Amino acid sequence: MHLQQNAPVKDAALSKVVVWEAFDVTDPMTLAASQLYEKTLAADERIPWMWIEQSVQDRTKSKPRPGGWSRHLLLAAPEGKQDDPEALAGYVYGALLPGYGGYLCYVGVADWARRMGVGRRLYDQFFKVLRVDAGELGEPLPFVIWESHRPDPMSPASDWENWTARTRLFDRVGGLWIDGVDFLSPNFAADEEDDEAPPVPLQLFIKPLDVPEAAFTPERLREVVGGLHRLVYRNEPDSPMYDRTLPPGCEPRLRPARVAGVRKSERGELV
Ligand SMILES: CC(C)(COP(=O)(O)OP(=O)(O)OC[C@H]1O[C@@H](n2cnc3c(N)ncnc32)[C@H](O)[C@@H]1OP(=O)(O)O)[C@@H](O)C(=O)NCCC(=O)NCCS
Repeated sequence: MHLQQNAPVKDAALSKVVVWEAFDVTDPMTLAASQLYEKTLAADERIPWMWIEQSVQDRTKSKPRPGGWSRHLLLAAPEGKQDDPEALAGYVYGALLPGYGGYLCYVGVADWARRMGVGRRLYDQFFKVLRVDAGELGEPLPFVIWESHRPDPMSPASDWENWTARTRLFDRVGGLWIDGVDFLSPNFAADEEDDEAPPVPLQLFIKPLDVPEAAFTPERLREVVGGLHRLVYRNEPDSPMYDRTLPPGCEPRLRPARVAGVRKSERGELV
């Protein structure tokens, strides 16, 4: 299947894009999402799709454990094309982490469907789904957080174009950049035996929801960043990745997401 070779539904201008939750890993639309996932994200940015599949399967089999994550895979397609794998426009995957907030892991839009608002729709729907989850638990939803890998100065222009697309999208959905933190995460593309594989530095973005932006002081942001390490990566304080992400004197602060999109030269100048 060549998801991105033709543009069978572009003329519909995606005025009516439908977003729904995937519950069946054998559904051709879910399989199409796995292909889009692998095509649109670099290997060192993604976990094996099998883990995502597993979480979709688990949702259909058992009630979530108390305090357990509530994971969701949402898919998007033009109205009337929800059964056509070639028309899959995009997907988003993430979870509610009770007692913490929302965590958006991955989002991707097919080439032919870009710049039509699909990414924005997926984010908005994801926020709504997590609100429902939090409401069911009787909890507020203070924020949704996500990570993104900024290209290095020598990366090809296409990587920088995609970074611009990402930061514009993040800006559009009300995301703010946590400036001052390089979040060090494990390199999933490395061999499991390879302890020497350098960690991947990620930029963090946050959408304040039930907590106002002004409440995200540097101290609160350090807690949020530390929480991500503990809950998602099982890195506790005193572990190398935790401590290198939050060194003494680290003063994270929120800035508009579009500011993170500015390209820098190797010497750190804006270009
Ligand atoms: C990043 C990505 C998800 C954006 O999806 P999208 O559906 O094209 O985004 P939208 O159409 O909702 O656009 C949102 C905003 O970003 C802007 N934008 C999107 N792509 C852009 C581009 N290439 N250049 C400049 N701005 C862009 C849009 O104009 C829009 O802003 P506006 O409403 O002010 O005009 C998509 O490019 C993609 O899948 N990239 C590859 C996978 C990836 O990088 N995923 C993110 C991992 S963190």
